[in-house]
Amino acid sequence: MTHPSLTIIRHEHRALSAMLRAITLLLSEHRRRGTLPDFDALQAMLFYVDEFPERLHHPKESRLLFPKLRGRNAQTDALLDRLDRDHLRGEQTIRELEHALIGFRMMSETGQRQARQARFENLMKQYVDFYLDHMRVEEAEILPLAESVLKDDEWAELDAAFLMNRDPLAGYEADEAYRPLFKKILGALQHSSNVGPALEAFAGAVLPARR
Ligand SMILES: [Fe+2]
Ligand SMILES: [Fe+2]
Repeated sequence: MTHPSLTIIRHEHRALSAMLRAITLLLSEHRRRGTLPDFDALQAMLFYVDEFPERLHHPKESRLLFPKLRGRNAQTDALLDRLDRDHLRGEQTIRELEHALIGFRMMSETGQRQARQARFENLMKQYVDFYLDHMRVEEAEILPLAESVLKDDEWAELDAAFLMNRDPLAGYEADEAYRPLFKKILGALQHSSNVGPALEAFAGAVLPARR
């Protein structure tokens, strides 16, 4: 049986992966050409990562799902501790990333451009690698464990909580307020010739939410 809460987690992982890969492709394309990226679009993409995955997705896991899986054995508890630490680290890193991007933007016409660009790109690469690995571990270890041990009443409680709390970019109805953000991100990806696969993946995740 497929539980709505697990489907939501997997959809949100897909949307976040597509966004992280799109950011990586955009940055490498501009680096190769020696051009400056569209800073407004990059800020919109980081804002998305901050707004939805960091504030909605990870708290759902840490507050709702992980506690139900604790106390079974030391190995699982250690893994859950690591994933909880990852969630905290992610929140801190997104602040650093946003600051590094402002630094890159503000200093892009000065002699500091190269150093600021390298700092932002290095931090971004670490963040992307870190989160892709984090999601891979959740999908390989935690979701199958939940499927095998949780009882019907626990699923009912989880599903109700998850259904109240959705990521608009992961295939759910988007708030009107966020539509300009979606437009800005999709527009930026369309102008970039090498971001085709990422655009396709991202559009695949976002299109069901668009009218
Ligand atoms: Fe997580
Ligand atoms: Fe997750």
